[in-house]
Amino acid sequence: MNLRDTLCIKDGRLNIGGCDCVELAKKYGTPLYVLDEEYVRQVMRAYLEGLSDYGKYAVAYASKALSCLALYNIVKEEGLWTDVVSGGELYATQKAGIDPKHIVMHGNNKTPKEMKEGVETGVGHIVVDGIDEIDRLDKIAGEVGKKATVLIRVNPLVEAHTHAAVQTARPDSKFGVIIGEEATNAIKTILTKENLIFDGLHCHIGSQIFDYSAFELAVDTMVEFIASLNKQGIKVNTLNMGGGFGIYYSGDDPLFTPMRYAHTVRNLALLLEKSISKHGIEKPFLIIEPGRSIVGEAGITLYTVGTIKEIKGIRKYVAIDGGMFENPRYALYQSKYTAINASRADKPFVQSVAVCGKCCESGDMIGIDIPLQDTQVGDTLAVFSTGAYNYSMASNYNMNAVPPMVIVKDGKSDYIVKPQTYDDLIRNNALPEWFKG
Ligand code: LLP
Repeated sequence: MNLRDTLCIKDGRLNIGGCDCVELAKKYGTPLYVLDEEYVRQVMRAYLEGLSDYGKYAVAYASKALSCLALYNIVKEEGLWTDVVSGGELYATQKAGIDPKHIVMHGNNKTPKEMKEGVETGVGHIVVDGIDEIDRLDKIAGEVGKKATVLIRVNPLVEAHTHAAVQTARPDSKFGVIIGEEATNAIKTILTKENLIFDGLHCHIGSQIFDYSAFELAVDTMVEFIASLNKQGIKVNTLNMGGGFGIYYSGDDPLFTPMRYAHTVRNLALLLEKSISKHGIEKPFLIIEPGRSIVGEAGITLYTVGTIKEIKGIRKYVAIDGGMFENPRYALYQSKYTAINASRADKPFVQSVAVCGKCCESGDMIGIDIPLQDTQVGDTLAVFSTGAYNYSMASNYNMNAVPPMVIVKDGKSDYIVKPQTYDDLIRNNALPEWFKG
């Protein structure tokens, strides 16, 4: 567990943002996503503070971790930028009033519609992800009648030690153009395009990374590449290093605090400065794109314990009223989680159980060996570090409703995502004419 001021045990129960979790479960029902506003803001401020000495920088929150209007409001208030990866995310940022100039638009296969929306909205950067996107984007920008400012996504071939599904800089990757000749040629092509303005480079080496030497190597590699571009007369204004900073989920994962993130990016920026002077390039505008680390540990999910099934000598299953429809990360990545019985939070952890969901498949688990207190039917179970890539990857599998999300602060709570109803589940169903007989 990685507890903190706003996530603590109080009067024997789990408390988040000054709210008793058992009371939250009663008031809003379960499953329930809960987001600690204070922690979100603290991490955002830490990133800004960590880069402040570097001077020319932006922190673009990666929407894919958790996208909703309330969060974009916080992003705006704290002075962050936003990265989006679909027309839907872009739409939500605009509904929340994010300045288009502060938006970085990604996607390894942006549809023509999405490119058009990006150009029309006037996003600050569109990140060109591949060579054949260049022509398409140039043509679309021409049709819209606006120039698109672009970065190019470069694969720096720096391996990050993380799950293969979230590694992005191996030679065999669908993302980006390979650093060196391929990327240089792509940039030269961009420079010939009438409707594109080349502004710089982007890279993202992966997600949930603890080994910062991979970032350090990526920084040096990118600066060296900028130097080689400069020698060919190509100016690079912006260097976007992507996201990927890890969070605590369980076991031996490092324990993070906002201060630690500030420290990490301060070191990265120092390293960048060193590399800049070593290679003699002009200081680029630096962008980072953290997602998971801003919302991940800020979020918990509350469940009500249902069936408990013990298979003697094999395992004990504790079933909750959620599952892979609201947290698919075990099913996808065998991710590990930490949990607590929020109703008996001060009691000792006496068992290791499989926390399973209610979906119709055996892989529907939150974890197979989660330490837990004595737990009874009806208890409130809290799973930690679910703020990132849970709600954003939720589905209606088995026609389960995506749970609502509440935000908590100083003992107050309110919805930021309202509950889905059964009617919502069939809202877009349609019956063709010939069914109506
Ligand atoms: N920038 C780019 C271009 C990215 O592709 C990503 C994440 C980020 C920034 C933010 O990375 P973060 O700071 O959140 O690590 N669904 C997976 C994670 C996929 C991450 C994809 N890209 C999971 O649940 O672990």
